[in-house]
Amino acid sequence: MSIKLSNRIRQVKPSPTLTLSNKAKEMKDAGHDVINFGVGEPDFNTPEYIKKSAQKALESNFTRYTANAGIIELRKAVCEKLKRDNGLEYEPKNILVSPGAKASILNVLFALCDILDQVLVPLPYWVSYPYQVMLAGAVPVYVKTRIEDCYKLQPETLRASIKENPNVKVLILNSPSNPTGAVYSEAELARIAEICIEHQIVVISDEIYERLVYDGKKHISIASHSQEMKNLTVVINGVSKAYAMTGWRLGYAAGPAEVIAAAGRYQEHATSCVNSITQKACVTALLEEDDSIENMRVEFENRRNFLFGELSRIPHLSCFQPEGAFYIFPDLSWYLENNNAGIRTTDDFCTALLAKYYVAIVSGSSFGEEGTVRFSYANSMQNLVSGAERFARFLSELRV
Ligand SMILES: Cc1ncc(COP(=O)(O)O)c(C=O)c1O
Repeated sequence: MSIKLSNRIRQVKPSPTLTLSNKAKEMKDAGHDVINFGVGEPDFNTPEYIKKSAQKALESNFTRYTANAGIIELRKAVCEKLKRDNGLEYEPKNILVSPGAKASILNVLFALCDILDQVLVPLPYWVSYPYQVMLAGAVPVYVKTRIEDCYKLQPETLRASIKENPNVKVLILNSPSNPTGAVYSEAELARIAEICIEHQIVVISDEIYERLVYDGKKHISIASHSQEMKNLTVVINGVSKAYAMTGWRLGYAAGPAEVIAAAGRYQEHATSCVNSITQKACVTALLEEDDSIENMRVEFENRRNFLFGELSRIPHLSCFQPEGAFYIFPDLSWYLENNNAGIRTTDDFCTALLAKYYVAIVSGSSFGEEGTVRFSYANSMQNLVSGAERFARFLSELRV
């Protein structure tokens, strides 16, 4: 007799990006020269000044449970960071520290959503948003965006979605975006903010890629639009991407005190506090930054320039220049319609590319956008050169 799993968990599929990474790793272990553009994490080591602070915490036996919401020192450091970088004034009661930004988003969704509340998820989306919404018992409502708008949510589309879906309570916004690399400007955010204020929609603003912004642009948080918008926003951020600390597991949510307290109650019974050593290291990461952080950003910008240059030379590939994160998101629909190899979907395309040229990229279907693929350029320049060349060769062979 097999055990019946819950309906809730049966909606949830394994993460396609992790599945691809595992497959690429298997092939690498079997001796193939695999180039993996699927990875969503910096390929740098955590900076020394942060590691030293963790060593110090360990040596001084800072190893016990901490306050559920995070040590006060860290919540104050987060407030300082939000004021310094985003012009946002918060107090420690507005901050919840969690084991990764992923956990922060889930905690907040649990705090906000009732069964059948609707959550707007612009499409293409980061793979976890729809499943997190479903796990919280709510319903994701996908809002289409267009490559012509760099896949950014347009005010008129937002308005129409709110009108068509009377139970919309939350909008998840992600800038800089995974998977597209798009960054919303202040003016674009202002138009979205005005609609959210008018309809009292809460915005979960995922700003995890804040530090990876290029061309001299600056990241803007939608919460900085106005006091009214700040009262409706929960800012999500963390240390994984900016400080190359993905394995340390620390993210945070900043928002109205009652929402943060409620999200904290969920966390208290789900995971409890973040690893105590990580919390100490993150106080240092946020307050004592050295050059290594900006150096990583500059390196990502160089790689973006290179990879975008290579991809934009390929005929029939539509691609806009991403302004942030470490992803490029080209549309290769033309090749799916014009090949004799029977490749009609991006899943087939990615499988064939990996099998023939050992290049792993993620199919756009994972992000709800068939016809596209995602490259992560969190990879060495040498791999970018070779991988881009193999990708271009594969496309030219496909062309009929
Ligand atoms: C858009 C987005 N949000 C949140 C996260 C989660 O980050 P963390 O490692 O802090 O859980 C990721 C990680 O890939 C991401 O791409």
